[in-house]
Amino acid sequence: MQKNTDKITEIVLKAARKARHETRNTPEAKKISRITWPLDCTVGPGLEGAIACETKIGFVNGSRGELTYCGYDIFDLCAYSTFEEVSYLLLYGRMPTGKQFASFKAKLIEARPLPHTLRMLMGFPVERMHPMACLRLGTNLMRQRLTWQDSDAARPDSVGAIAADEDSIPMETQPKGEQKAIYEFKGKKSGRPADVPPDTQDAAGLDACIHLISGLATISAAVARVREHRLPIEPDPELGHAANFLYMMTGKRPTAEQERIMDIALILHADHGMNASTFASMVVASTLSDIYFSIGSGIAALSGPLHGGANEAVLNMLEKIGHPDNVDVWYQKAIRRKKKIVGMGHRVYKTYDPRARILGPLARHVAIHDKDAALLLRTARKLEKLVVASLGKEKGIFPNVDFYSGIVYKSMGIHRNMFTPVFAVSRVAGWTARVHEYLKKNRIFRPRALYTGAFGREYESIADRDNQTRSRG
Ligand code: COA
Repeated sequence: MQKNTDKITEIVLKAARKARHETRNTPEAKKISRITWPLDCTVGPGLEGAIACETKIGFVNGSRGELTYCGYDIFDLCAYSTFEEVSYLLLYGRMPTGKQFASFKAKLIEARPLPHTLRMLMGFPVERMHPMACLRLGTNLMRQRLTWQDSDAARPDSVGAIAADEDSIPMETQPKGEQKAIYEFKGKKSGRPADVPPDTQDAAGLDACIHLISGLATISAAVARVREHRLPIEPDPELGHAANFLYMMTGKRPTAEQERIMDIALILHADHGMNASTFASMVVASTLSDIYFSIGSGIAALSGPLHGGANEAVLNMLEKIGHPDNVDVWYQKAIRRKKKIVGMGHRVYKTYDPRARILGPLARHVAIHDKDAALLLRTARKLEKLVVASLGKEKGIFPNVDFYSGIVYKSMGIHRNMFTPVFAVSRVAGWTARVHEYLKKNRIFRPRALYTGAFGREYESIADRDNQTRSRG
């Protein structure tokens, strides 16, 4: 296997060298090791710029185009690691020893078959539902065994609540309310209560995280199969996570090279700061709800076209353009219509997205033996050149993670309506890690909206309102 995948490793290392060379003169980001709360920061609509918590999990440097998980550069992780090892890193904050990794992989293998969940899921019209709706439902069904959070003994003592009542906080009309409005339970219980049956799970614990990391791949693969009128396939305990995912989805054991490419794609999507789906998961978890519900919220957030799903749109766009010769005319028309080019631009990266730096050359590699991919790639590269030449320097618009991933997935036999579930199968590692980290210092999320509506309106009966409308004519 090593030899077959050396080429892929070389592609990643070459992309890393290019990235480091091109960004060598960009100033380093300010590194912060400790902050004091409350913090002053400039906040835009949608909480843009707001700092909600501290984390040691991941760092995105938008100006240098760098992505780091727990201090490890994404290029190194893609070149040398696996999705399983990266999941361990995100959850525990350090690389495992051989023994720790063996035990972690054994837990993933144990969690991978989900016969009960799948049996329940197949009771729904999966073939007609959106795959992300199936995934969200499946995640809820994974929660079939009661978690100890469900037991009365685990509930926080509401008498001890410091302030669970909105009216206790001066707010809304002035943007300077009480800084310390605490929606927390003083002395809340942590750890498994004594009177909980021993086989119930800790739904915020690491076992539940591992269950979800392994399980989302199984559910996604089963959904892909059923949508193609095929039966789900049982996982093979001899295969790793990426290979199992491809095998359960396509029914074919992947080649060593396909497995390696899938592994890299999963690593690349595993975590990315406080994006909408990660934040959604954390908000739900912060209420001391349970991690299956909170990951379900992440899946729901990811299903929106502004978040997941751009890679499918890229593929549709490239197919619509049809040929590299059509790119010029198509692009000029798009510019005239002020159309945003999908797969280009990023809220955080104002330079080349490091994930696209890897996925681009991988797309080039798969296109060597795939004629369809080759045409799409030539069209994509021509479009990239035009966009970067006209908008790169001026507006910081470069290819993002979604620009080339669809070509890679399509070439591996993954149907385009499964692209967003593939994203979720990877991002669940970041979601669970960040939820797990946040719960150690939990504080319920509770931003404010600035009220700009009316005051002092007088209530009138509906008859009076109707009379007034009539008299106004
Ligand atoms: N194509 C062309 N122009 C783009 C562009 C794109 N993909 N993305 C941004 N721009 C332009 C905007 O038109 C705007 O120009 P203006 O200043 O003349 O009005 C400027 O760049 C800033 O755009 P803005 O939307 O404010 O940037 P943002 O940081 O909020 O947007 C995205 C980030 C990702 C939402 C945006 O780039 C986009 O919609 N990209 C396409 C969808 C996509 O690929 N999504 C997946 C992201 S991983």
